[in-house]
Amino acid sequence: MEKFSNKVVFVTGSSKGIGRTIAEEMLRKGARVVLNGRNRDVLEKTADELSGPGRELLQIAADVSAPEAFSSALDQVLERFGRLDILILNAGLSSYGAVEKTSNTSLEQVMRVNTFGPFTGARIALPHITASRGSIVFISSLAGLHGIPYSSVYSMSKMALTALAQSLKTELTGKGVHIGIVYVGFTRNDPAKTAVAPDGTIRPLQSRPGWVQQSPQKVARLILRSIRRRRFRTTLSTMGRLMAFFSRYFPRLFQFAMRGMLKSAQKLTAE
Ligand SMILES: NC(=O)c1ccc[n+]([C@@H]2O[C@H](COP(=O)([O-])OP(=O)(O)OC[C@H]3O[C@@H](n4cnc5c(N)ncnc54)[C@H](OP(=O)(O)O)[C@@H]3O)[C@@H](O)[C@H]2O)c1
Repeated sequence: MEKFSNKVVFVTGSSKGIGRTIAEEMLRKGARVVLNGRNRDVLEKTADELSGPGRELLQIAADVSAPEAFSSALDQVLERFGRLDILILNAGLSSYGAVEKTSNTSLEQVMRVNTFGPFTGARIALPHITASRGSIVFISSLAGLHGIPYSSVYSMSKMALTALAQSLKTELTGKGVHIGIVYVGFTRNDPAKTAVAPDGTIRPLQSRPGWVQQSPQKVARLILRSIRRRRFRTTLSTMGRLMAFFSRYFPRLFQFAMRGMLKSAQKLTAE
């Protein structure tokens, strides 16, 4: 409780899904939370549902992948709370499609939100996180550990966060700032979850089989634990840890297993 009590926590992309659950968990622990999303109506509804006695919430409707929008959001955070302790760069887009069918519209959209957005956010917020000796946490995915068939763009966008987190951690040596990256496994999706199709349009995302998914509540609790312990790298779920181990130490065996996944990946992403 004490660890997060009164801390100012900005969770990008927290109007639904995992970000919303992280925000809720932080509020429960006594943090002052900044909620964010682009869709104003969804954000308002979430803010209403999460507010309650003794809870301090600020909602900011903004596309945080745009540098000016992120700067203006940060100004609002500082104006309201005077500081920023924890920045969780969670806003992200899912995408799918075979490489040969994927347009540059899809590529640019996903890279802008999933990679350029976190880079820009981390850069702009850094002086304030340094002042509070706080945390910057990047939300990556198992797709950031190894390229996933029919999800190349998403994998690229999340793998790039590893390089960013590693560079930043080393650059900040001795400054007392915690940098973390969390490789999130398959998580039960918000029913309204969408994904970027190969042609760049936004489509509803088909659900995965229930047995492979963690609940967003469990994912949020594990993310909070990794922040509390100031861990650099956290891989969630048994599948994630197996993936990290086999892709690193037994790459050929891992490739073989990935070929087995081809059919189900093809089915999930069929156009
Ligand atoms: N779900 C999974 O199985 C899974 C697995 C591994 C990793 N992840 C990662 O976890 C994070 C959250 O995923 P999720 O499944 O919770 O996604 P989600 O249900 O689609 O929610 C995404 C949230 O981000 C917001 N958002 C998207 N783009 C934004 C932008 N440019 N600026 C501000 N807000 C933005 C969305 O609101 P608006 O659309 O209104 O902006 C929404 O609040 C993502 O980074 C994702 O890649 C998810």
